[in-house]
Amino acid sequence: MKTNAIHPLRPQYHFTPEANWLNDPNGMVYFEGEYHLFYQHHPDSSVWGPMHWGHAVSKDLVHWEHLPIALYPDHNGTIFSGSAVVDSNDTSGFFGGEPGLVAVYTQTEMIPGSDASKQRQSIAYSKDKGRTWIPYPGNPVLEDERYPDFRDPKVFWHEQTEQWIMVLAAGDRLFLYRSPNLIDWTFASEFGAEEGSHDGVWECPDLFELPVEGGDGASKWVLIVSIGDNPSCPEGSRTQYFIGEFDGLSFTNEHSADTVLWLDYGRDNYAGVTWSDAPGTESERLLIGWMNNWKYANQIPTVGWRGAMTLTRKLTLRQEREGVRLVQQLVDAIRQLRLSGSQWKDERINESRDLIVGQCGRQLELEAEFELGTAAEFGIKLHAGGGQTVVGYDVRTGQLFIDRTESGILDFHAEFGCRHGAPLEAKDRLIKLTLWLDRSSLEVFANDGGLVMTDQLFPLEGEDGLELYAVGGDVHLRSLRLYPLQSIYATVAAEAAHG
Ligand code: FRU
Repeated sequence: MKTNAIHPLRPQYHFTPEANWLNDPNGMVYFEGEYHLFYQHHPDSSVWGPMHWGHAVSKDLVHWEHLPIALYPDHNGTIFSGSAVVDSNDTSGFFGGEPGLVAVYTQTEMIPGSDASKQRQSIAYSKDKGRTWIPYPGNPVLEDERYPDFRDPKVFWHEQTEQWIMVLAAGDRLFLYRSPNLIDWTFASEFGAEEGSHDGVWECPDLFELPVEGGDGASKWVLIVSIGDNPSCPEGSRTQYFIGEFDGLSFTNEHSADTVLWLDYGRDNYAGVTWSDAPGTESERLLIGWMNNWKYANQIPTVGWRGAMTLTRKLTLRQEREGVRLVQQLVDAIRQLRLSGSQWKDERINESRDLIVGQCGRQLELEAEFELGTAAEFGIKLHAGGGQTVVGYDVRTGQLFIDRTESGILDFHAEFGCRHGAPLEAKDRLIKLTLWLDRSSLEVFANDGGLVMTDQLFPLEGEDGLELYAVGGDVHLRSLRLYPLQSIYATVAAEAAHG
């Protein structure tokens, strides 16, 4: 992995393309010991353009090997988002009775003489562990010209009814289709025109079943839907989810139609979907998202590459007072990057006594446990120097917030420098936060993964201070653990140096 590791803003343990543009994660599938990650890629420019599927593989979801582009535009159009599955029983007939990989994706083509495009679904298959892909000669396999937005197929094998299911975004709703062989698709149902948030166009759906921890042993279906940017919404593009039932034909939302559940309360986690066929899929799903926002994605101040993925997260379901909710934890393998840590215990912090931790670098894992005292607000200042980014808790409103209004480079978009929050209950008067800081990104996990906020930050050189603060009273810091993190390029570089 020879990714340019030297640019000061290039994430060092998140996936980035070797060069140029990246958006949505696509076609994530586990096959014969490898986790595949494909992604929306423009290989010739660092802004969005004719889409290809870039490709990388990993054995541990932490270190990635870049592979050549998997899918190129052809006579059916450019290659938009989609999924990939292991066709274990060769239902497609592509693999001579053996298992193989099938990708299902949208192809987009301009309609001659207009500025409209048509979007149709195609498939391609690989007989060599994803190294080369053969587009199916009968492409496209699914089209419906009534819908200009008709994209992002996510396909899975539905065990109970022994058929393939496809969830597809169609403007303000989802369509579900079924198939015996991944080639012939029949309409099954639609969902969502009147449900959840419609702040933007619906994109990149995913549908899967998980057991509910702390429930009655029953499992539930989770339906993830990303919603595109709407210039009048400060949040930009973001991702919602629904909880309910799926019977092989249609999905039923168990919440009221106006309930909106957000996957991530930060500004930079979009188009996330889960891995197909990963080990342990019955009890948890692995999700990765695009760590960016369509509001400013084409303008972020990176040089040579543009776009990164979130860290890979394990999704589970937890029974909460208000209903069943998604919980996100990072995959355990990420902890292999920890270098030797430092620890603080039982510190009292108030206006006249910040805890100045010092210059801590930009690749960090930080775990803090606060017990509420009299302070009206407390938290953590990152990248402190001339500027800062604050992860704080506002006790009066019960909100966890990220404030990036002074976080460094802001001038590339008027709405980037913002403060945004999410409701977080201090159970037993405790607030537990885990932060993952990686040069130009921050992922915050609270309430044991019940609340997640992901944000990009573009700090200026030399602003590496870390401080804990409280205002309007004091707060008890029960513990703080800090681990500098190794770059995922470090072991490769060390191996190369030792010949
Ligand atoms: C989501 C999205 C998808 C589309 C792709 C194009 O970010 O707009 O709906 O397939 O990006 O790159």
